[in-house]
Amino acid sequence: RDEPLVLGIETSCDETGVGIVRGHTLLADAVASSVDEHARFGGVVPEVASRAHLEAMVPTIERACETAGVALTDLDAISVTNGPGLAGALLVGVAAAKALALGLGKPLYGVNHLASHVAVDQLEHGALPEPCVAMLVSGGHSSLLRVTDVTGVGDGTPEGAGVVSMGATIDDAAGEAFDKVARVLGLPFPGGPHIDKAAREGNQVAIDFPRGLTSRRDLERHRFDYSFSGLKTAVARWVEARERSGEPVPVADVAASFQEAVCDVLVRKALDAASSEGIEDLLIGGGVAANSRLRHLAEERAASLGIRVRVPRPGLCTDNGAMVAALGAEMVARDRVPSSLDLPADSSLPV
Ligand code: KG4
Ligand code: ZN
Repeated sequence: RDEPLVLGIETSCDETGVGIVRGHTLLADAVASSVDEHARFGGVVPEVASRAHLEAMVPTIERACETAGVALTDLDAISVTNGPGLAGALLVGVAAAKALALGLGKPLYGVNHLASHVAVDQLEHGALPEPCVAMLVSGGHSSLLRVTDVTGVGDGTPEGAGVVSMGATIDDAAGEAFDKVARVLGLPFPGGPHIDKAAREGNQVAIDFPRGLTSRRDLERHRFDYSFSGLKTAVARWVEARERSGEPVPVADVAASFQEAVCDVLVRKALDAASSEGIEDLLIGGGVAANSRLRHLAEERAASLGIRVRVPRPGLCTDNGAMVAALGAEMVARDRVPSSLDLPADSSLPV
């Protein structure tokens, strides 16, 4: 009962998320998504997202309180994603969080979106393994983080920061590649789940698609970085050539071979990152963590290296408010300094 009761707000992209946790216990996770409004554009439209957040904010807060069975006045703290993400979208959440904190006289904690993708796992599997390597793969990010203190503080020095970026995509995010390839194959948006499904009927070694940034030369400069735009182009070219030849496109084989190329590189580099740091826990988050092949490959290869893999359930992997509340609760539990009420929204907030 003396664990902190925290409400977290997430509006960095297209989901308006409001979560309520008590310590490591999830009490409510209300999400309103504008994904359907973006579907016909094939990607998230920032202005549409901001407007949708504005409309959904108050009802989603109310829904979360109702589900959790708590009144706003019961809360111990408010946390909010203040970056990275879409500037206008972030502003809506930050403004709402400030209003709540000010009105209730409770502390406000601005939290990093990527760190909260890591923190969410404690709602499912208990206290986080620290240190761990976190691989965050979604439509907006593909990052490898070294996490020694999820609140980011660490020992207070830049080198000893609690969350350090080891690598990231240099072009498309992994989820973006799934979505674009799905489009080429005529599958609906967001394409990841459809590719996952189609791939089950296909042969993953049917087509040898390129593995980005894995040549010896690339590894010197980009050991833990990813690149998916070359792969996406290779798939598009392959499909076009097939269409020109008048032969049918083997959708399942293309999906399986593409998915294998993405997952192979993701897992290879994540495990290399963990091994290079002598870290024995790998945490996977973000929407693409729902991919069945990714989970399977990660578990299989990690086991042979003695590395443990933790993946929150799919509903917690995609953007939501619970992850923000989870990190907020950790901020309180670890006695971190609250944010001031002039907390800025920072679209390119570093970890
Ligand atoms: O985390 P998320 O909901 O939103 C952000 O992008 O931040 O991630 C959505 C992404 C989309 O690109 C979607 O296609 C992908 O995650 N995704 C998947 C799967 N489920 C969702 N990608 C591959 N396999 C899946 N099963
Ligand atoms: Zn995210």
